[in-house]
Amino acid sequence: MDLEFIKRETLKDKPKDETKLGFGRIFTDYMLMMKRDNTRGWFYAAIEPFGDLSLSPAALVLHYAQEVFEGLKAYRGGGGRILLFRPWENMKRMALSAARLSMQPFDSDFLLNSIYELVKREKDWIPAAPGTSLYIRPTYIGIDPFVGVAAAEEYLLYVILSPVGAYYPRGLEPVDIFVENNYVRTVRGGTGTTKAGANYAISLLAGEEAHQKGFSQVLWLDGVEKTYIEEVGSMNIFFKIDGEIITPALQGSILPGVTRDSIIRIARDKGMPVSEKRISIYEIEEAQADGKLEEVFGSGTAAVVSPVGKLVWGDKTIVVGDGGMGQVTRMLYDTITGIQYGRIEDPYGWTYELK
Ligand SMILES: Cc1ncc(COP(=O)(O)O)c(C=O)c1O
Repeated sequence: MDLEFIKRETLKDKPKDETKLGFGRIFTDYMLMMKRDNTRGWFYAAIEPFGDLSLSPAALVLHYAQEVFEGLKAYRGGGGRILLFRPWENMKRMALSAARLSMQPFDSDFLLNSIYELVKREKDWIPAAPGTSLYIRPTYIGIDPFVGVAAAEEYLLYVILSPVGAYYPRGLEPVDIFVENNYVRTVRGGTGTTKAGANYAISLLAGEEAHQKGFSQVLWLDGVEKTYIEEVGSMNIFFKIDGEIITPALQGSILPGVTRDSIIRIARDKGMPVSEKRISIYEIEEAQADGKLEEVFGSGTAAVVSPVGKLVWGDKTIVVGDGGMGQVTRMLYDTITGIQYGRIEDPYGWTYELK
């Protein structure tokens, strides 16, 4: 299949003030569009003008949520270099997400190369101010006009781009987290390991209720015993307890984060002990009572590393360290962002430079 190019007549104005980009509301001039049906297989791929989709109101995705997505970024490094961070991992995860939702497989290499073409064409949209980036959102949906519960036979796979602002315009600030002990996000065997849009729909209510209580993030506990730590709304979570870095093991209900994997690798390379294991909220409470809960942080593409100041669990408040940001959290943030923006050497082969 060849990648076509469909030119748009007029280009949009690019944002002038890169300090006011925010997240996810501004989109570039073009998008990547791929189409598949069961008779022709993948039959269309083009870089097209960004625009509305036309779907039947009966389209399967609108009724039964057969949708998966990804989130990655292109970074503007020194000298105008354009860098992507482990993008092949996002392709792999999207393929696994699609398989879990009974969606037809796609050619990950073709998709990734087409994303490279799209980002190159839109390179002038990649902001340069510190901490900014171009967010890349691949989305895959089943679109048959058929109101019956079945896997789709017709699909759209598209990729849109959005210049995004710095996550920490005022510097890294610890967040307070609400430990959710009423709603659950997923259970083992469910879809928690995937980036299915439905996972996020079912987490909105907990997020809203936590917001009303003054928290920006929810920490999910396991869906059966509501005891073991899973992850935060859009981040994996790490604890530093008595010198050891601990993160919940990938046991079939949490998202295998690319940032999570990178942090584990970097921390181990720096000689720190890292365990992936089941860890309960009671153990966290106990560690704090013993004065051993040194650092807590979330990890994800959006925030990179997000220090946690407090965990509020029922009527208990678990204060982390001295409530400020820990040294390991800072080091990991500096190292990962250093690699992503090409400020420090990448010893892992994680960055891909677009030329
Ligand atoms: C539920 C959830 N957990 C964890 C993450 C972190 O994953 P990554 O580091 O690949 O961005 C994300 C964000 O993608 C997420 O949505």
